[in-house]
Amino acid sequence: MDPLLGDFSLAQLARRKSHKWREYPPDVLPAFVAEMDFMVAEAIAEAVRDALAIGDTGYPHAGELGEAFASFAAGRLGWTVDPARVFPIPDVMTGIAEILIATTAPGSGVVLNPPVYGPFFIRLGYLGRRVVEAPLLRAGNGSYDLDFDALDRALAEPDVGAYLLCSPHNPLGRVWTSDQLLTVADLCERHDVELLVDEIHAPLVLPGAKQVPFASLDHPMAERAYTFNSASKGWNIPGLKCGITVAGSQASADLLTERWEALLASHHGVLASVAAFTKALDWLDAAAAQLDDNRELLAGLLAGQLPEVGYVPGEASFLAWLDCRKLGLGDDPAAHFLAKGRVALSPGPFFGTQGAGFARLNIGTSPELIAEAVRRIAVAAHAE
Ligand SMILES: Cc1ncc(COP(=O)(O)O)c(C=O)c1O
Repeated sequence: MDPLLGDFSLAQLARRKSHKWREYPPDVLPAFVAEMDFMVAEAIAEAVRDALAIGDTGYPHAGELGEAFASFAAGRLGWTVDPARVFPIPDVMTGIAEILIATTAPGSGVVLNPPVYGPFFIRLGYLGRRVVEAPLLRAGNGSYDLDFDALDRALAEPDVGAYLLCSPHNPLGRVWTSDQLLTVADLCERHDVELLVDEIHAPLVLPGAKQVPFASLDHPMAERAYTFNSASKGWNIPGLKCGITVAGSQASADLLTERWEALLASHHGVLASVAAFTKALDWLDAAAAQLDDNRELLAGLLAGQLPEVGYVPGEASFLAWLDCRKLGLGDDPAAHFLAKGRVALSPGPFFGTQGAGFARLNIGTSPELIAEAVRRIAVAAHAE
């Protein structure tokens, strides 16, 4: 592994006190929640250490965040962003919630593309918004795609106020093309809905794929969209609590300015994010190269030890969506892997009813721990 990602053992990781490392007893290998095991980038650690050293532990100021994200977007995503349109948020889910509260009526529908990130369903429930499903199309080879007929029908349902698009998509790691995004834009414009685009995994698009930021499209919906991004997934700092919303228009920027009190990020999260976007690009490249190797390694390990499990390597990020239906373990194979193999994956049904028989494996770790996870899954799969 690249030295930038650190040299970590299972014993060292087990000293961490985050959700990933505390949720299960020590004999369980955690490979569920979307935290990576790599060591934090030195530039990020330095930014936070420097703040602590001078007692700089107060409330946040956006500071250089707009310029930092704009330079990252220009350099890495081919997207020209006005720094004044970049707003810190505590995390992407809070940002999404606040925009939905502000732009949709209570009880209105929000369209999702399951299987998709489980907290979307949970948060819409808290908000009193109705989930309207436009499931992804699954091809015979196990790959998934946007289903524009299903999306058109879902957006046409009465009282639908918004569409929450996940791009890149969690848990599939799909990266949508500009043609697909333009079709999405046409449909949203025709049905006159708010568009929220969750691009949190965009910094970790892997070699061979190209992320198209929705707001970079030449389409009227690009102005209407709220884009969510963050250093939290790409640089593995969700614990520092800072995400980003990019307002597509001045009206959206005014709305975000007005809602500042609900959207305070952590001060250290802002400082860490500035460091990530400007000074930790070598770390990001090392992480992406490792994840590229990891997805290939996983495909090989599964082919050798669990040929019944379907896996189409993702184009982005560190999540592997495993089709375990041929193992005959029911709707929630992750429960069986946990009980019999002492390895914790995310249960497929967490991502919607379409996830029955699936599980999500986190491969944001070392090759050794991926091999150990697969070994444990195989033990469980072949146990009585
Ligand atoms: C698609 C997606 N959106 C949002 C989040 C949560 O981000 P945050 O911690 O910034 O709310 C995640 C976390 O894994 C995610 O995968």
